[in-house]
Amino acid sequence: MKCAAFTNTTKINQKVVSNYFYTSSKQFLLNFFLLVTLVFGTANVGIAQPDGGKIFKQNCSRCHKLDETKLTGPGMKGVFDRVPKPADEWLFKWIKNNKEVMMSGDAYGLKVFNDNAKQNMDVFDGVISDDEIKAVIAYIKNPLLPVDEKTTTVTEPKSPQDKGFSTFIVLLVAAISLLILVAVLGTIKKHLQDSVNAKNGLPATGPVSFQQWASGNKRLVAVLGILFVILLAKLTYEGLMTFSVDQDYLPAQPIKYSHQTHAGKLQINCVYCHSGAEKGRTAGVPSANVCMNCHKAVSEGPKTGKAEIAKIYDAVGWDPATGTYSKPQKPIQWVRVHSLPDFSYFNHSQHVVVGKQDCKNCHGDMATLDEAKQVSPLTMGWCIDCHRKTEVPGMATNPYYEELHAKLKEKYKGQPITVENMGGLDCIKCHY
Ligand code: HEC
Ligand code: HEC
Ligand code: HEC
Ligand code: HEC
Ligand code: HEC
Ligand code: HEC
Repeated sequence: MKCAAFTNTTKINQKVVSNYFYTSSKQFLLNFFLLVTLVFGTANVGIAQPDGGKIFKQNCSRCHKLDETKLTGPGMKGVFDRVPKPADEWLFKWIKNNKEVMMSGDAYGLKVFNDNAKQNMDVFDGVISDDEIKAVIAYIKNPLLPVDEKTTTVTEPKSPQDKGFSTFIVLLVAAISLLILVAVLGTIKKHLQDSVNAKNGLPATGPVSFQQWASGNKRLVAVLGILFVILLAKLTYEGLMTFSVDQDYLPAQPIKYSHQTHAGKLQINCVYCHSGAEKGRTAGVPSANVCMNCHKAVSEGPKTGKAEIAKIYDAVGWDPATGTYSKPQKPIQWVRVHSLPDFSYFNHSQHVVVGKQDCKNCHGDMATLDEAKQVSPLTMGWCIDCHRKTEVPGMATNPYYEELHAKLKEKYKGQPITVENMGGLDCIKCHY
């Protein structure tokens, strides 16, 4: 040990000791920084949200609040009591297509329409699925509880080790390590000081009070203080925002479905299964009925035999022996891989149809992967980077852009018109 070496040499003096302590406190700070970066580099704080909550935030929260506050539309508080009964049924019809409800002459529907200055509510038929509408209704009824799943659902990852560990535990570990380090360093310094004193014939130092220690290490104390404040700020901030970079995130799925087999070998088009990608915000995951289009006939695969395909049959209640849907259904619970925080907005059709972006640009070559994983970081920097670099396709030819194009052409004479130039970096485009 270094301590022993010090006591055996005569060259020891106060300076060596303080140098030693100085280097070890530098070392210590370095370690501490490493610890902090490591901790925050790896920690993902994934707060599981019930689906209905997410759907509400993305489709309804623009116009409705959950309490009694009125935005464009009325607050949702007490809505179950005021709408015609059975409330679930009426709400379902209304959310799916409020125009149809009003056109059918529904007195209550016409009343809320008039009470809200004849503002228009969006029609959600074809925008969100029936199951999503039910999830939203369940969410409005009970905003905190997760929702029952009916057929095919995508669940948020549940176990904490899947998504990283909680900030709280991480901070606790950091704080404890910090205290231990400080205590150890303090003891080392005292021992060194004692050995110097022994050599010089001085009495050993008494126990060091915290104040003495602090006044002897003002710089260290200041740095620690600042770090503490930063940690506290970071904790508060992360409590408010769900922060996550889950690149390469690859959860276990309930069925060994392979993109390589289906999109690669069999060359099935991505949108055959992810039809939402061309229609709206979410690409969606296919329901087991889509699988059945082929798997009614294909009951065996080369790698997994009958075992995995049998799970599709269980999901839809198909009895291969009789060739009928006669068994109880057991929904497949795919675990969601990609998930942006609720406060950000991303729309597939805007990118795939209007922006002419290939799935590959964001999801990598899925057709070569056995298991779907998140290839891109999905951070804000990633979105912005592409918006800075990418020219808006069809700006000159798409009639949708005619007016805007004329204006931008004037403004950015000769330069390529990127997504940034048409306002694609405005906070409001991606944040509610
Ligand atoms: C563009 C704004 C807008 C969006 C988006 C919107 N609504 Fe509405 N909503 C309204 C307005 C306005 C009314 C009042 C009726 C009318 O004038 O059409 C209303 C009425 C309602 C009512 C009846 C309220 C009552 O007090 O009886 C319900 C329930 C409702 N909306 C649910 C939803 C749900 C669920 C979503 C999301 C899936 C949604 N709305 C999205 C504007 C919106
Ligand atoms: C035969 C149907 C089918 C085809 C074709 C298909 N997928 Fe999938 N895809 C699925 C299923 C089922 C899942 C959910 C299971 C999983 O995550 O592995 C999924 C999951 C995904 C996910 C991850 C979803 C999440 O949870 O975040 C992405 C991204 C994806 N597919 C992209 C593609 C792309 C790109 C193509 C075309 C190259 C494609 N898929 C073709 C069925 C299909
Ligand atoms: C367009 C037709 C088609 C669709 C849709 C389809 N599959 Fe398949 N699937 C096949 C074929 C064909 C095979 C056999 C592949 C082979 O022989 O290489 C297969 C094989 C499989 C296997 C066995 C793989 C192996 O190597 O053992 C599983 C599991 C599977 N599919 C799951 C699914 C799931 C889940 C869905 C729905 C999300 C789905 N399939 C949708 C055509 C399809
Ligand atoms: C510009 C980038 C981009 C392109 C292009 C893109 N995606 Fe996505 N995809 C995303 C992002 C970002 C998410 C996460 C969305 C979320 O959590 O709300 C996602 C999520 C998904 C999911 C998970 C389910 C969902 O919708 O949330 C699937 C499946 C998927 N994409 C399939 C596709 C397919 C198939 C294509 C091509 C037709 C495609 N994506 C094109 C960026 C992209
Ligand atoms: C691979 C490149 C690429 C990536 C990555 C990408 N985008 Fe885009 N984005 C585009 C293109 C191209 C357009 C222009 C589409 C159009 O013409 O409306 C666009 C347009 C948009 C718009 C509409 C902008 C406007 O001014 O109307 C929004 C909002 C948006 N993107 C959000 C996102 C978000 C959120 C992410 C990250 C999760 C993201 N984008 C990632 C290429 C990308
Ligand atoms: C092109 C889309 C896009 C634009 C424009 C955009 N953001 Fe973001 N922002 C995102 C996405 C996506 C996330 C989620 C990133 C994640 O989960 O790591 C995010 C996350 C954030 C966060 C949380 C911190 C984090 O990194 O998770 C803050 C704060 C934020 N954005 C503020 C802003 C402000 C302020 C602006 C305008 C100057 C802005 N954003 C413009 C897409 C965008």
